[in-house]
Amino acid sequence: MSEGLLLAIETSCDETGVALLDGPRRIVAHAVASQVALHAGAGGIVPELAARAHLRWLDPALDEVLGDAGATLGDVRSVAVTAGPGLVGSLLVGLSYAKALAWALDLPLVGVNHLEGHLYAAWLLDPGEPERPEPAFPLVALVVSGGHTFLVEMRDHLAYRLLGETVDDAAGEAFDKAGRLLGLGYPGGPAIAAAAADAAGPPDRLPRAWLGDSYDFSFSGLKTALRRLVEAELAAGGRQPVEGGGRLDAARVAALAAAFQESVVEVLATKTLRAAEAVGARTIVVGGGVASNGSLRERLAGGAASLGVDLVIPRPGLCTDNGAMIGAAGARRLAAGEAAGLDLGVRASWPLARPAGSPTSRRPPTRGAAARAYARARDAEADAAGRVTG
Ligand code: KG4
Ligand code: ZN
Repeated sequence: MSEGLLLAIETSCDETGVALLDGPRRIVAHAVASQVALHAGAGGIVPELAARAHLRWLDPALDEVLGDAGATLGDVRSVAVTAGPGLVGSLLVGLSYAKALAWALDLPLVGVNHLEGHLYAAWLLDPGEPERPEPAFPLVALVVSGGHTFLVEMRDHLAYRLLGETVDDAAGEAFDKAGRLLGLGYPGGPAIAAAAADAAGPPDRLPRAWLGDSYDFSFSGLKTALRRLVEAELAAGGRQPVEGGGRLDAARVAALAAAFQESVVEVLATKTLRAAEAVGARTIVVGGGVASNGSLRERLAGGAASLGVDLVIPRPGLCTDNGAMIGAAGARRLAAGEAAGLDLGVRASWPLARPAGSPTSRRPPTRGAAARAYARARDAEADAAGRVTG
């Protein structure tokens, strides 16, 4: 352990992640305390419960990684912590914990963008995993999580050019909403993937939003199409609506889960592969919870192979939220000379990259459903910014 260990802490959402890294890539130990069971009853994350659970689990998670590594706090040389985006209460718990450690041990501290963490998970090496080359630049990175969906181009470390992003729901959010519609519970992603595996018979087809030839995504129309279909089938069968607890038969749920997954996966994979070709990428990197989806992984693997491009997707446990990915990004930032003071704050919203050029140069769609999705997203943005739209 040449340079000593980096301690990384992630508490932006509903997983408490703590990790020890040796260098920017090698995981020495990591632990994730999941709150899925805690929030399942509510069908979604309850922010106040999440913050308290982080407080409850940080100490045991830290003890566990130190124990696994056979290390003590005296072996730690720097601290990385998620500073955003995420739930403010949850972020504050991790940040305060990291600050206290950095202050008490007199160590450098760095605040990490959670989305940059998802992206840098592709660089990680598990304990004992043989060395492998770093993802080669230029690369195209797709981040697909519960709150974010975007594509960036990277020609060097820590520098991003936004190629496209969702104009409404994130891919994970779409999976979660579809899971609720199908009565599959929370989180919807893994449940839909599991249900889809049981689908038999001729496949259903749900819409895809291509948004012209842009690299932007839209999943809200798909969700609405699924809702209409489910409600119509429930009504035709004389059953309660979704809100009243109505559920379709298992076979129909499986068929619709498969159709939904297919629709999301086809758009994500097609746009990512097209972007990789357009920018002459040598590598495609994928991160975020939805990157653990088997169907997405398979489709990208096939496409990348025919393009002759390397594909790097972390194992599923490193796609969903964890501390190691925060360490991977934090180590790069520290190496680049970045360090935070004890006045470091949290950011609920923190885009990794902003659109390059004007909206016109990004050629938004002008016709049909795609144009309407754009208009809705712009209105929502204007609303959020406190502007009056007419
Ligand atoms: O990255 P993540 O762990 O947390 C956020 O930063 O949001 O992503 C969580 C999201 C959830 O929406 C979950 O439904 C989705 O990732 N997810 C999946 C799968 N596993 C998790 N979506 C599709 N297929 C999966 N296997
Ligand atoms: Zn995440």
